[in-house]
Order: sequence, then C-alpha cells, then structure tokens
Amino acid sequence: MPAPQFADPAPPILTIDPFSPECLNDPYPAHERLRDAGPVVWLERYGVWAVGRHAEVKSVLSNWQTFCSSAGVGLSNYRRETPWRPPGLLLEADPPIHNRARSVLTKILSPPAIKALKTQFEVEAVRLVDELVARGSFDAITDLAEAFPIKVFSDAIGLPLRGRDKLLPYGKLIFNAFGPRNALFLEAMAEAEHFQDWVAESCSRGALTPGMLGAQIYAAADAGEIALDEAPRLVRAFISAGLDTTVSALGNAIYLFGLFPEQWALLRDDPALARGAFEEVLRYEAPFQTFFRTSTEQTEIAGQTIGADEKIMVSVGSANRDPRQWQNPDQFDIKRRALGHVGMGVGIHACVGQMIARLEGEVVLSALARRVRTIEITGTPERRLNNTLRGLKSLPVSLRTIEH
Ligand code: HEM
Repeated sequence: MPAPQFADPAPPILTIDPFSPECLNDPYPAHERLRDAGPVVWLERYGVWAVGRHAEVKSVLSNWQTFCSSAGVGLSNYRRETPWRPPGLLLEADPPIHNRARSVLTKILSPPAIKALKTQFEVEAVRLVDELVARGSFDAITDLAEAFPIKVFSDAIGLPLRGRDKLLPYGKLIFNAFGPRNALFLEAMAEAEHFQDWVAESCSRGALTPGMLGAQIYAAADAGEIALDEAPRLVRAFISAGLDTTVSALGNAIYLFGLFPEQWALLRDDPALARGAFEEVLRYEAPFQTFFRTSTEQTEIAGQTIGADEKIMVSVGSANRDPRQWQNPDQFDIKRRALGHVGMGVGIHACVGQMIARLEGEVVLSALARRVRTIEITGTPERRLNNTLRGLKSLPVSLRTIEH
C-alpha cells in the first residue's frame, strides 16, 4: 500500500510483513527492526502504524478513548469493512458497552471463584503428569499443552463433553482472523463449517452444566445485568479467548524448559517458583503476539501525527523483549521480576481470564517440577503458524523422573 502524505516529520517506514511465514516462524529479528526504527513506524505492506517498544505499547493500550477496540482488534477496520462475524461484546467493544459485559465476567472470574477451581485444577494436573511420567515419552503439545486446558477449562465453563475436539480449530480461526486475509486465515475459514454449529449450540443455556462459569453468565442475564441474547456471546468470548492462548503458553513453557535445562533445574529444586516461571514464559514468548487499535481522532504518538481512523498494530511480543525495559531481554530467566510484561494486555481490555490462565500454568509446572528431573526434546519441534498466536504444533519430549 502506498504511503500517504505524512505530516512533518515523516515517520520511519518499514517494508516487513509481520504476518509472513518467515516472521511468524521467528518474529524476533522483525521486532528488533520495529523497535529500533522508532517509537512508532509505518508498515507499508498493510498501510498501518505499529508500536513495538514497551513504553508506547503501554501508552496506546492505556488510552482507550483515543485508541479504540470497537473498530476491531485485528487488521481489518470495521468502520470500512464488514466484520467476518458479529463483533465480540467485550474485546471488540468500547465503554459504555464494554463496561457491562466486563463487570459480569470480572465477577464470575473473581479471586474466590478462581480459588474454588484450584483444587480441581491441581488434581487434574497431578493425574495428567502421573500418566505422562508413566509413559516417559510423548508429544508435549497434544498430550499436555492441549489436553490439560481442554479438560479443565471446558469443565470449568461447563461445556458438553461431546465435540470438544472442535475447540482448537475454532480458536485457530479466531486468532488467524486478527491478521490479513492470507493463506492461514483462508485455511482456518475453510474448516469453519465443521465446528460453527457446535460452538453455537454449546454456548446455549441448555448445553451448559448448571452452576459452572457458562451457566453463571446466564444467571447474570436473568438478574438483568446483561441482555439475554448477550449471554451466548459472552460464553463464546470465554471459548474464543481462553483456550488457544493457554495451550500456546503451556506448550511454550515446556519448550523453553527443554531448551534451557538449567532453568528447569531451578524450578525442580524449588517448585514454589512455578508462578513466577510461568510469568517469565508469558514475557519471553507472548502467546498473543499482536493486536490492533484504531485512532478515534487525529492524535500523536511520541510526536508523530496519527490521522483519525487509522489502524495501529500493537506488538506485545516485541514490547516484552524491549531492551529499553528489560535487562538481557532475550535471556529466559525464571527468577527475574517479569511482572510488568504486557503479554496479558494493559488497561480496560487487559485479560479478564488472566487468573485462570495463571492458575493453569502454575498447577501444571509445579506438578511437573515435583516429579520430573529432566525434560529432553527428542525430535524436531513443529511450529503452528498463526497470524496472532505464538505456539507449537508438536514437541516430542522424554522425561526422566526424580525417583530414577
Ligand atoms: C496465557 C493465556 C492468555 C493470554 C496470553 C491472554 C492474553 C490476552 C490479551 C493480551 C488480552 C487483551 C487484548 C486486547 O487488549 O485487545 C486478553 C483479553 C481477554 N482475555 Fe485473555 N489471555 C489468556 C487467557 C485467557 C483465559 C483463560 C480467558 C477466559 C477465562 C481469557 C479471556 C479473555 C477475554 C474475555 C478478553 C477480553 C477482555 C476485554 O476486552 O475486556 N483469556 N487476553
């Protein structure tokens, strides 16, 4: 796309394609170019702005009035293009619409509610780890990173048992759709007919286990906190946002501990480090790498004029490795204070499910740390390319237990 007439001074212009297979496979060289080119740059390929430094990422995400979500948090601008599906009530909404849905989910996912899920999550993590330890060798993505959230998160929502295999293809489409209409999106879309009916049916009141998180959304609708027809869309928000992200994070964690055995030794020797270790995984390999905002008026980012109704790509993956913010950012160090990373977002849209995600990460890592001496990568890991998510498709590993 040709560059528009920029106000003086002209911005740095980059020709990189962050959604090309090369960049998705290894985004870090492009991140460095993005950060080094300036606080805000013009991405010629898509005719959008991009921020990749921690300070600007934080300030854009903190200012929902100027950088809104209602025009879509993907590359597509809903003010000019028809959304591929009805926009989400939460992620793709601004206040005041956003506030109502957000307060319902914040209440349902409150600290006491998460505490109530903890024992169940721990029991399942120990059961799965025992099974995997007994097998010795397995695929850490399908058998662990996918298996665990599909079980515990779906149970927590109260989703039916039948059809859960459709959750990951559904998430694949959601997250590819935040990018351009490239081959990844088209491939995910072509699979959509196999799961759309199941997703719609599973978000209905009758399909959900009474008392669980999904049913609580309907209870909030019965209490008049949201409209009844908004309830299935909020259940859908859970399954859109809450599964593939956690799958990616757990897979990235096992991969990193396989790559950096000295970091595994630290965790094994002190399983209480599990929570901080998971935080460092989210910093080092942000599962939700990029999303977008749209300017509501002419504004400035770091002195650069940004016109009204322009798209800004926000690279949290890059901000999490910004040397202006972190010492030795490319070093995976589970003892660092990783809090302050932006992998869970910032501001009013910051991840509403982050306590569940952290709980999942913590229980899995501590169950492994109590039983596993070493994690060895035994085959070539295969990356799962996605326009938004960073994760693996396959990771053959072999475990040696502490008892041996
Ligand atoms: C490691 C796992 C996870 C990561 C990395 C992650 C990341 C994020 C990020 C970066 C955002 C902000 C997007 C934006 O500002 O436009 C977000 C929002 C959101 N997340 Fe998560 N998430 C994770 C797990 C979950 C879980 C388990 C749930 C469900 C319980 C969930 C539900 C949501 C929802 C509903 C939003 C929209 C919030 C709003 O717009 O107010 N996420 N997440």
